[in-house]
Amino acid sequence: MPKISRRTSDLGTENAFVVLAEVNELIRQGRDVISFCIGQPDFHTPLNIQDAAVKAIREGRHGYTPSAGIPELRAAAAKDMGGLRGLSIDPEHVVVGAGAKPFIAYTILCTTDYGVGDEVIYPNPGFPIYESQILACGAVPVPLYLREARDFAFDPADLEARITPKTKLLILNSPQNPTGGILTKKDLEEIAAVLRRHPDIWIYADEIYSRLLYQGEFASIASLPGMYERTIISDGASKTWAMTGWRIGYASSPVLAPQFVRWVTNTDSCASHISQWAAVEALNGSQEEPRKMRASFLARRDLIVGLLNRVPGVTCKLPGGAFYAWPNVTEACRMTGAKDSEELRKRLLNEAGVAVLADIHFGARVPDEGQHIRFSYAASNKAIEDGVARMADFIRKNTR
Ligand SMILES: Cc1ncc(COP(=O)(O)O)c(C=O)c1O
Repeated sequence: MPKISRRTSDLGTENAFVVLAEVNELIRQGRDVISFCIGQPDFHTPLNIQDAAVKAIREGRHGYTPSAGIPELRAAAAKDMGGLRGLSIDPEHVVVGAGAKPFIAYTILCTTDYGVGDEVIYPNPGFPIYESQILACGAVPVPLYLREARDFAFDPADLEARITPKTKLLILNSPQNPTGGILTKKDLEEIAAVLRRHPDIWIYADEIYSRLLYQGEFASIASLPGMYERTIISDGASKTWAMTGWRIGYASSPVLAPQFVRWVTNTDSCASHISQWAAVEALNGSQEEPRKMRASFLARRDLIVGLLNRVPGVTCKLPGGAFYAWPNVTEACRMTGAKDSEELRKRLLNEAGVAVLADIHFGARVPDEGQHIRFSYAASNKAIEDGVARMADFIRKNTR
């Protein structure tokens, strides 16, 4: 039998999809499971956006587009990304992709060489694709620990301690998956101060949750003096307009944009032509629906965090953005005799019918930070109330 490459055999995955398969199997067996696993809005894409896609189909927008994306979408994305960040972004510096996700790999591929020890620093816990793509691209992953005491930001001194002559790229993510933490302007100023001492490091600012922020003003490292030229801003339609399946993301970089275009040509050719027209409407059309969705996420955040903090053995910080809660369950594990968050997660699923993800699904557990699980609260109020009540019952009944 011909062999499968090590690169592919070792490729990681998004464990949300693995747990989801477990959940779906239980549901298939007739079990009643409330799921908080999947990180996508539970709303339909707004009607005006759906209509724009239908119109694009009827008008015959069926062929390839330029790899960089249609000019109308590049212009709309440049205006939107620039407006939020106080920058004037040239549409020529914006590239459209099949979601924001491909830009993670494109950026690592553009900034590191294969197998020579180039290092990429990335947040831990973090979106699992960072680590798996760093490895698949032949670079060295260097985790940067997020601290609960800092509301899940990292210590800039920890960042500086991890920088070596081999460091090529720093990945930032705010608002953050899985903690819901945000990097404030003050955090970013401290990070920028470190990076100014290391001018050869690129920055990937994963800002896919930029419009789902619940306190203060959104801040991007790209807005700080000297940072824009070396930063790749990544944003997209998936989360803000409930368009995960449409696959539209965009990235801006005055230097790397032409390189991204070559990567798109070499991989997807272009993002879906129809979805691109839908995204033009998302960006340029009425913002009433995304405003309502955000308000709904905010109300659910307050609901779930309030309820979680009343569960025995659980404490939950108020997340500043995205739609994730990241409660500390160290004490709940101790009370129920679960050896760690992963055992607790399995028992919650099998014995209480509550599906969540564990911290180990977002990288190796951070030393001395205890046990955490992730709730995606892109779920109805009733699901949140019933799910957290089931968890509380489970812990009460199983306390030793
Ligand atoms: C931090 C982060 N970055 C990127 C993505 C990918 O988004 P997209 O659907 O635009 O590819 C996600 C999706 O879950 C995410 O959580």
